[in-house]
Amino acid sequence: MKLVTCADNIAVSSRAAQILISEINGNPDLVLCLPTGRTPRLIYNNLVLAYRNRAVSFSRSIIFNLDEYVGLAGNDVGSFSAYMKDMFIDHVDVGANAWHIPNGKASDIDSEAAQYDRAIAEAGGLDFVVLGVGSNGHIGFNEPGASLTSRTRVVELTKETLAANIPDLPREPRPHQGITIGIANIMEARKVLLVASGASKAAAIYQLINRGDPSQWPVAALCDHDDVTVLLDEAASGK
Ligand code: GLP
Repeated sequence: MKLVTCADNIAVSSRAAQILISEINGNPDLVLCLPTGRTPRLIYNNLVLAYRNRAVSFSRSIIFNLDEYVGLAGNDVGSFSAYMKDMFIDHVDVGANAWHIPNGKASDIDSEAAQYDRAIAEAGGLDFVVLGVGSNGHIGFNEPGASLTSRTRVVELTKETLAANIPDLPREPRPHQGITIGIANIMEARKVLLVASGASKAAAIYQLINRGDPSQWPVAALCDHDDVTVLLDEAASGK
């Protein structure tokens, strides 16, 4: 595991964007898996700027998102789909059929999950996964207790996760489930880049670095991945 501590989230985001740009320029057909949340917002800003400056093109990339809320349509302001369009997809040259995100409103959500796994397999698997982390150690929506063999599926969100995400969910009824790729999907990716910012992430980062129990801290599963880079700001490295 490569661990890099930066001063703040601005520095984390610029380093993360540089890493992504160099991966994409090295392999324009990269199959990416991307996160949502507050932490990666500046990464997307940096990527959009780099695209406008012709430093990178996403025209041959395939993009999967990590997760989505169950019950929210893609055009709901609180959905991860709306976030992705607003932050990234609508501003760059990602191909029309090259962006995948689970449909949280699918009438058969279990078959939506199975279909998502098939689409990942058909793309040849994930090359590069970018992750944030929840304060309880969740990655994607793989909450504590998630199985190491889990794949895309519907999960119950913890009270902690719901409380953390409420500012981005303006309308009732608020979702209480997510559809997320699993720990096994993440562990099969060729490379993982995890970004963490703020003191609320310090306990999860402590568990990652000290090989905590992945059944309690899902992020600690990454200890057994052989190509992980962790970008932290000073607050997230506080423990
Ligand atoms: C959400 C997402 C995760 C994300 C995490 C942290 O619940 N499902 O993929 O990493 O929360 O988000 P933030 O960066 O806002 O703290």
